[in-house]
Amino acid sequence: MYPPFRLIASTAALIGLSATHFVCAEPSANQATLANINPGFPYGSEKVRGVNLGGWLVLEPWITPSLFDQTGNSAIVDEWTFGLYQNHQTALATLQNHWNTWITEADFAAIAAAGLNHVRLPIGYWAWEVGPGEPYIQGQLPYLRNAIGWAANYGLKVIIDLHGAPGSQNGFDNSGQRMSFPTWHSNGTNVARTDAIMKQIAGEFASQYQNAPIIAPLNEPAGFDGQAVLSVVRQYWYDSYGNIRYPYDTSQQGNTVVLLHDAFQPLSYWNGFMPPPNYQGVAMDTHIYQMFSDSEVALSNSAHIQAACATQSTLGPFNQQLWTIVGEWTPAMTDCAKYLNGRGVGARYDGSYPGSSYVGSCNGQTGSASSFSSAYKTFLRQMWEAQVISFETAASGWIQWTWKAENADDWSYQAGLANGWIPHNPTNLMYPNICG
Ligand SMILES: *[C@@H]1O[C@H](CO)[C@@H](O)[C@H](O)[C@H]1NC(C)=O
Repeated sequence: MYPPFRLIASTAALIGLSATHFVCAEPSANQATLANINPGFPYGSEKVRGVNLGGWLVLEPWITPSLFDQTGNSAIVDEWTFGLYQNHQTALATLQNHWNTWITEADFAAIAAAGLNHVRLPIGYWAWEVGPGEPYIQGQLPYLRNAIGWAANYGLKVIIDLHGAPGSQNGFDNSGQRMSFPTWHSNGTNVARTDAIMKQIAGEFASQYQNAPIIAPLNEPAGFDGQAVLSVVRQYWYDSYGNIRYPYDTSQQGNTVVLLHDAFQPLSYWNGFMPPPNYQGVAMDTHIYQMFSDSEVALSNSAHIQAACATQSTLGPFNQQLWTIVGEWTPAMTDCAKYLNGRGVGARYDGSYPGSSYVGSCNGQTGSASSFSSAYKTFLRQMWEAQVISFETAASGWIQWTWKAENADDWSYQAGLANGWIPHNPTNLMYPNICG
């Protein structure tokens, strides 16, 4: 999940676009991406349809606000401070209970029954290694292993997503550590530790488990902070390619796909990066949200739909180079969910976020679906379909953020199924022509 306190240029830029020219592709560079590998899912031909298991093995204040509120300490704003400002036994017991209950095998059954084929599972580096002075609490790794087995029981594929790196790659609370400027990229020790962890992840999961066809080496590095970050990210992607695609330290390529993130750059920034056939099994992850800037939360319903449809014009051409998966998106169109912008931070939509101005009341926009009007539920359905159509037409598929949330039904796939704005079969569309 995305930027609490930053304006993201790439998403904002989408708003100004009209659906214009599609580039005529060379005969399928895209096919070459997979020519010689067999990841266990036909990424070139079948669409990824999935959901993120957010807020489980990495805490996010807005997904489980109760875990933060019950500490009684407002300085606990992320998983780092969750460990730092609590007695170790207390924090450990809370986390263990959370790991045991937030997601269980029954969720995998329900996700498969909803016609999905993938889950993306965020996890932090601290599941593998905690350095001196780092307050993180361990114990997540057995749940990752269980999750891969549970997913297999229901025919679901798992994307292992490294969501937090040492020093934080973006400063978001969902990287483990909320900070005003991230420090992963500026410290070679942090990057070297991340490389070592990627070797461990690939060593275990790329080799033994056929059911984890994709590893995403780092979620949302802060490319918006400039060239220094981007050059570290580019080198890290090359190193991760070696670590994941050749996981046994031999010249033998494995079958695991490397899922890069666009680092908040326009997809065109990555034109020609890791091109097939020299590089194989590389895919691109892009995250598309419409509520993390003042101008976006002020859009009308029809402008939101138009912006969703307009994503096709940039996704389409890039998907001809590398399979492009929209790995995070949501039908929610406000930032009203409690703590979405960080614990103790308000919303742009109702003007309670610093510097923002009132667009509308947050009442009936988030929280329990029982407070949603039927017109709002219709809009959520339209937003869901406009995005699904766009991401299947122009890209290689989609993974919604997120499966469940304590008190933000607008973001919850589970709540969408239960309340009718997400169909029980994702190909069952009510507005198939919504993008014209
Ligand atoms: C770099 O990061 C490591 C932890 O990964 C830390 O121990 C070290 O102090 C950091 N160095 C600097 C100069 O901040």
